Amino acid sequence: MLFRPAIRRSARLWAPVALFLVLALAGCAQDYPQTTLAPKGDFAHIVDQVFRTTFWWAVGVFILVEGALVYAIVKFRSKPGAAEPHQTHGNTTLEIVWTIIPAAILAFIAVPTVKAIFRTAAEPTDAIQIEVIGHQWWWEFRYPDLKIVTANDLHVPMGQTVNLRMTTADVIHSFWIPQFAGKRDVFPRRYNNIWFKAETTGVFSGQCAEFCGVEHARMAFRVVSDSPEDFKKWADHQQIGSPLVNGGTMADSAITADIKAMNHDTSANVDSVLARGKAAFMSGGCIGCHAMEGTPMAGMMQLVGPNLTHIASRHTIAAGTLPLTPENLSTWLHNPDSVKPGVLMKLPRPLTDDEVKALVAFLELHK
Ligand code: CUA
Repeated sequence: MLFRPAIRRSARLWAPVALFLVLALAGCAQDYPQTTLAPKGDFAHIVDQVFRTTFWWAVGVFILVEGALVYAIVKFRSKPGAAEPHQTHGNTTLEIVWTIIPAAILAFIAVPTVKAIFRTAAEPTDAIQIEVIGHQWWWEFRYPDLKIVTANDLHVPMGQTVNLRMTTADVIHSFWIPQFAGKRDVFPRRYNNIWFKAETTGVFSGQCAEFCGVEHARMAFRVVSDSPEDFKKWADHQQIGSPLVNGGTMADSAITADIKAMNHDTSANVDSVLARGKAAFMSGGCIGCHAMEGTPMAGMMQLVGPNLTHIASRHTIAAGTLPLTPENLSTWLHNPDSVKPGVLMKLPRPLTDDEVKALVAFLELHK
């Protein structure tokens, strides 16, 4: 019984320390897709450097200030029977010293910060140009030199600078790829730019970082950093065009067993899937918002929904909300609002099961 108060005292002392250590260790883990602490590109390294410089200055200030505070609390604490201490009102030397020290620290932080602002604001020469257009709630990517229009998957070649020229079709959004670059707001009828050079291959998370309406949180995208060879393969494939205009080059094997099973039609071939899918695409209302090479609206520059020409080559549907699988496409097409409440994809009428099956098989052909 005698040692119980001692245990309670030490638990009170160590609980916050243990909590701090758990949080600190959790923060060190690397499997957070939106971490800014693991930069993978030159722009992100510049930002990271400013953060680390500022962080260590702050740590120094914290240790000095808290150290002085703890020292004063212990050294000058009230003792039983002690007389009232000597009272001081103002000390000009001290006032000057503790004005100059913070000003000097801020100057040490300001110099690298301003340098980083100028470095990141400069437009790179010799970069691949990509146009970014924010929409409620998805991202459109255009490669004017390569004549590619895509959505929600931003492909970039590793080791080559890309320059993103960005705007929005509706409200203000903020374009953010935590591991490659900082944030940039995008504004209607104005153009901002951001650039970066990926130093590794892989798939990275991007996110809208400015509240832009009910589905702001589901306005994500993927950055696919390819090796230069894979980027060329991707670009070449995107330029082949839709199977609607180029069906002859698509092999029947492109129709997977899954899709045949979903279609309840084990004899499905490319031509029948394309014909039924195109019919559903036209009659189901898709055509009102989506472009797809080979459909009448293909030439439109500004449509409400993503260009679907190569939808099956992308990682997700509904701007990062679901992985792109036949099952998820089916759920989405049956009721988009159940996946992304408030989504602007309003079907003029619910699609029939047969229409959804035809559309899923049709879209899956668009690799
Ligand atoms: Cu777009 Cu938030």
